[in-house]
Formats: sequence, structure tokens, C-alpha cells
Amino acid sequence: MVKIAPSILSADFANLGRDIDRVLKAGADWIHVDIMDGHFVPNLSFGPPALRCIRQATEGFLDVHLMIEKPEDYLDAFLQAGADLVNFHLESQGDLYSLIRRVKQAGKQAALTIKPATPAEALFPYLPLLDMVLVMSVEPGFGGQKFMPDSLEKVRLLRQQIDAQSLPCLIEIDGGINTENAPLAIEAGADVLVAGSAVYGAKDIKEAIVQLRSGQLSLFSPGSRLEA
Ligand code: DX5
Ligand code: ZN
Repeated sequence: MVKIAPSILSADFANLGRDIDRVLKAGADWIHVDIMDGHFVPNLSFGPPALRCIRQATEGFLDVHLMIEKPEDYLDAFLQAGADLVNFHLESQGDLYSLIRRVKQAGKQAALTIKPATPAEALFPYLPLLDMVLVMSVEPGFGGQKFMPDSLEKVRLLRQQIDAQSLPCLIEIDGGINTENAPLAIEAGADVLVAGSAVYGAKDIKEAIVQLRSGQLSLFSPGSRLEA
């Protein structure tokens, strides 16, 4: 079954523990933690101390998305702070093979992420080494942006490669996911859907998670084709 990973970028930062509990109780599978350094992306979010506090507040699986220029400088700090999975960008600096090795040696899961301008093929050489790949469906940096449909073709290409080699690597998609496009992402082959505003902005979080996971177009989502 598809996993739902709410991004806490859309949570209330003054009540993070409460907001993490809320989505896990509502059925979320993972917690997606967006780390931004103001260089790799034009925004700032959390550092390792905040991740350590999040780790103490929950036993949930922490999917940490590093949008930082030099992941090698901070990787150990994020691993020690309690990340379960570390996602770093193919476009960031450093030796990606060594970063993947360090994550695996720490007994954690490793993922590589591509921005919208990077082709899916760039990930192919790394697939056998990875627990997951992440396809960005918005320019990284901010929650609440519009989904880029071109990302679906990349998910499809990665699905074909992974299945052709019978690899255990999961595919995650992140950015602008809502009940309208979740069925398309699932159909293309995504295993994990990140959703920030579609979960934290929903009136009924439990219902939003059920709808996202169902792969079916919501009758109640704004602009739904079925409403027209
Ligand atoms: C964007 C982040 C995403 C984002 C998701 O840079 O990586 O995880 O917060 O938020 P929504 O679902 O609102 O696009
Ligand atoms: Zn993210």
C-alpha cells in the first residue's frame, strides 16, 4: 500500500510535537522533515537540534529531506539527531557514493532526490544502492506550490528501471500533491506521497490521508473533475 508522509513544513512550528502526533494518529506512515540551508534553496527551516527534539517527541519514521548545498558537512549530525532515512539531492555538492555509504554504515536508509530540471536517467546508476529515490514535483524551497505534471513521466521511467532489475528501491514524490493528482502519482508508480498543505490544511486530516492513499479522485476536493 502507498505510504503517506506529511511534510511538517506546513505544521504549526510552535506545536510541532502535537502536529506530528495528530497526523500519525490520523494514519500517516512517515513524517517528512524538510531541511533547508538558505543556499541550496532560498529558504531556511530546521537544523539538527530541532530534529533531535522531534526525535524525542515521536517514535514515527523520520524521512529527512536535506535541501542543503554540502550534505557531507552535516550528514553525521542529522544521523545522530535521529533521522531514519536521509534524502540528499543529486544536485548538491560532494561524493554521492560516499554519502550513501555513510548513511548505510549508520544502519539508516539512504535516498537520492532530483529537482524538476534533472532527468530521471541521472538516478539510474545509483538505484541498486538506494532504499528510495525522490522525484520533486515542485522547485524545492517552499510548501504550497503547484504540482508539476512533468514529474509523472520521471516516476514512470524510474518504476520501469526498478522493476526491470527487481530492486527494492521505493519511489517518493514531493511537492503540490493533493487528492486531485495523488491518483496520477500512484498510477505512475509512486510508493510514497509527501503532502504538506494537503494534509495540514485539510479540515479533516484523517479523511485527507485516506483520500490521498486511496488513489481515487476525491468527490470533495476543490476543483475536482467530478464536481464539475
Ligand atoms: C518543498 C518541500 C516539500 C513541501 C511539500 O521544498 O520539499 O516537502 O514542503 O509541501 P506541499 O505538499 O504543500 O507542496
Ligand atoms: Zn520535502
